[in-house]
Amino acid sequence: MRLDPFSGPYSRDPATTWRRINATATSISYDDHLAMWLIAGHDNVRTVLADTTRFSNAATMLPITALTADAGDILAGLDAPAVAVAADRPQHLRTRAILRALMPTTVARAEQQWGPLVAARTDDLITGMTTNEPTDLMHFAVQLPLLVIHDVLGLPVAAAEQVRAWTDDFADLVWGNPTAEAQIAQAYSSVALWRFCADIVSRRADRGHDGPGLIGELLRYRNNDDSNLTIAEVAALALNIVGAGWITTTGALGNALAHALAEPVRWARLADDEHYLNLHVEETLRHSPAIDGWLRLTITDVTLDGVTIPAGSRCLVLIGAANHDPAVYTEPEVFDPRRGRGGQHLAFGAGPHYCIGAALARLELTTALRALARRLPSLALAAGFQQQFKTSAALRQLTSLPVEQRPAGRCPVAHGTSAGPRS
Ligand code: HEM
Repeated sequence: MRLDPFSGPYSRDPATTWRRINATATSISYDDHLAMWLIAGHDNVRTVLADTTRFSNAATMLPITALTADAGDILAGLDAPAVAVAADRPQHLRTRAILRALMPTTVARAEQQWGPLVAARTDDLITGMTTNEPTDLMHFAVQLPLLVIHDVLGLPVAAAEQVRAWTDDFADLVWGNPTAEAQIAQAYSSVALWRFCADIVSRRADRGHDGPGLIGELLRYRNNDDSNLTIAEVAALALNIVGAGWITTTGALGNALAHALAEPVRWARLADDEHYLNLHVEETLRHSPAIDGWLRLTITDVTLDGVTIPAGSRCLVLIGAANHDPAVYTEPEVFDPRRGRGGQHLAFGAGPHYCIGAALARLELTTALRALARRLPSLALAAGFQQQFKTSAALRQLTSLPVEQRPAGRCPVAHGTSAGPRS
């Protein structure tokens, strides 16, 4: 079986590849080009993501595309200790427990803690949009999670654009297919992002001033005692949250907006139907997961569906294909917020590494969709819009989402445009 995640067709329409993969007899196969095992099928994907005994997270941040020696040497400067998503037991359990103690993990608690700041950032960004001219809504989808993650962590917002560029480079270096030349620049960016987190944390610790946000809370938890958390671990957790916290939510928000704007009636319902709003978000996460492939390394020989994967093998766990498994979802390619089993999706993973920021992501998605639909009721996809995602084996983020105001008099109708994403 072959995935070819860096090809044009996959970047335009990954669901067609997932359909082909889901239709083949075996859901476990070796991809010679990627030199990785592909894991498909809802049950297999859930099993692998949740099985921390036979599968390691150590390779999660190792670039999929082989690095040149020069880029590899530069990247060695990213010497962050393994925590949270990049760690295995016992380090994973220890650092995750600390994050769980400090971060709200239900939407209700996330709303209490972060609701006002997410709402304020959303309103400011909408106010700043020029709505009577064509706009790229991906700008909004980038800025909201980017600014929110700075607020949440207590990072200086003045650094947000720099952090955005560094994180984009890091993501392309790890999950993309960069040229040898690009790898050098991206490796420097990745190290710069790590140093940025490390410098902020050490400066605050040196001054004895823990400062705001989650970084402040982690430093207070540390209480100047390395046996609680080292300075490097605090910085590595900040790096984890920056890396995981905005780019994923940007992808999900872009996808949710594209589905919403594809049908004017959906857009109208988001404004005043809270039940529909939540269903729309969950169906987006199922249908168009922002992380649709994720990495694991086998610790031992593992037999799944009758196929044995040798110890030490890299695996690409196909969350997108699992979310489109016809054994679980009827007509999986149809975007249908009313489907009963949408909640079983694997967009946030499963088991011990389940996304620690899921509640924040859901809060951001619902806040943004509700506010945009209320304040810009005549927004529509620009004529001729064709979905195109950034090239990546893991992250599904639209390159652009051009929108325009619907001309006055064109009211929402039941089955409006044909220009939306394939659903
Ligand atoms: C729609 C947005 C998001 C998606 C699709 C997403 C997806 C995921 C997935 C699939 C995992 C599991 C990784 C694994 O099994 O190795 C994960 C873990 C994680 N996510 Fe998210 N995430 C999102 C938003 C966020 C946000 C907003 C934050 C931070 C506030 C965050 C922080 C984390 C962290 C720290 C982990 C590692 C947890 C662990 O290893 O115990 N994520 N996320």
